[in-house]
This record gives sequence, C-alpha cells and structure tokens, in this order.
Amino acid sequence: MKKLVTLPLVLSAICLWMPMTNSAQAAANGEELFKQRCSVCHPNGGNIINPRETLHKGEREVNTVEEIIGKMRNPGPGMSKFDSNALPDSDAKAIAEYILKTF
Ligand code: HEC
Repeated sequence: MKKLVTLPLVLSAICLWMPMTNSAQAAANGEELFKQRCSVCHPNGGNIINPRETLHKGEREVNTVEEIIGKMRNPGPGMSKFDSNALPDSDAKAIAEYILKTF
C-alpha cells in the first residue's frame, strides 16, 4: 500500500523538475553552441571579418530570434551558411536567444 502512494508522488516530482533542467540546459547549450560554431568569427560578440557587423545590441541589425536565425540560414558576405542540416532549428534558436541576452 505504501508503494502505491509514493509512486505518483515521485512521478509528479520528476515532472515538475524536468522543465527546469530543460531550460537550464537550453541556456548552457546556446552558449556552448555559440562558442563552437560562431565565436571563431564573433569572439565576444564582435566580428573579426567585418568589424562593423558585430552582434552587440545597438550595432546589430537583427533584434529578434527569428531575424538571427534568418541570418544563419541566409548570411551576408563573409559569413558561413548554417542550413538546418548543419544547425537544427532548436540549436539555432538556442544560439539566437544566447546572443540576444548576452551581447
Ligand atoms: C566565417 C566567419 C563567420 C562565422 C563562422 C559566423 N559569422 Fe556571423 N557574420 C560574419 C560576417 C562576415 C558578418 C557580416 C556580414 C553579414 O551581415 O552577414 C556576420 C554577421 C552576422 C550577424 C549580423 C550582425 C549585424 O550587424 O546585423 C549575425 C546575427 C551573425 N553573424 C550571427 C552568427 C551566428 C549565430 C553564427 C554561428 C551560428 C555566425 N554568425 C557565424 C562572419 C561569420
């Protein structure tokens, strides 16, 4: 009888805890992915190829997650292209959110 009571409790505790670890993970992933894929050219949000096109707020022309993902999918001159094979939407979104909150 005791087991029947504790099992649902344990399950609901796990369900409450999962979304929190997921979002913490997404944040860490955005930073990790940015470092792996973007920071060669954009160290600390700068731009070593074209110094006028940085990722810093006020300097960048893209200010939403969608616009930043659009940039990865259709970059301008000098930037590598990241299509959805190279960078799935979920990863692209994590990177875009990291850029918006960091630089
Ligand atoms: C090979 C070097 C290179 C890499 C790697 C690179 N970029 Fe860029 N990026 C550039 C250059 C050059 C520009 C300026 C041309 C343009 O606007 O597309 C730029 C511009 C941008 C802009 C627009 C900045 C503005 O002023 O509006 C964003 C956003 C951006 N990059 C995001 C990324 C992200 C995210 C990644 C990683 C997934 C990445 N870049 C990887 C070279 C790079």
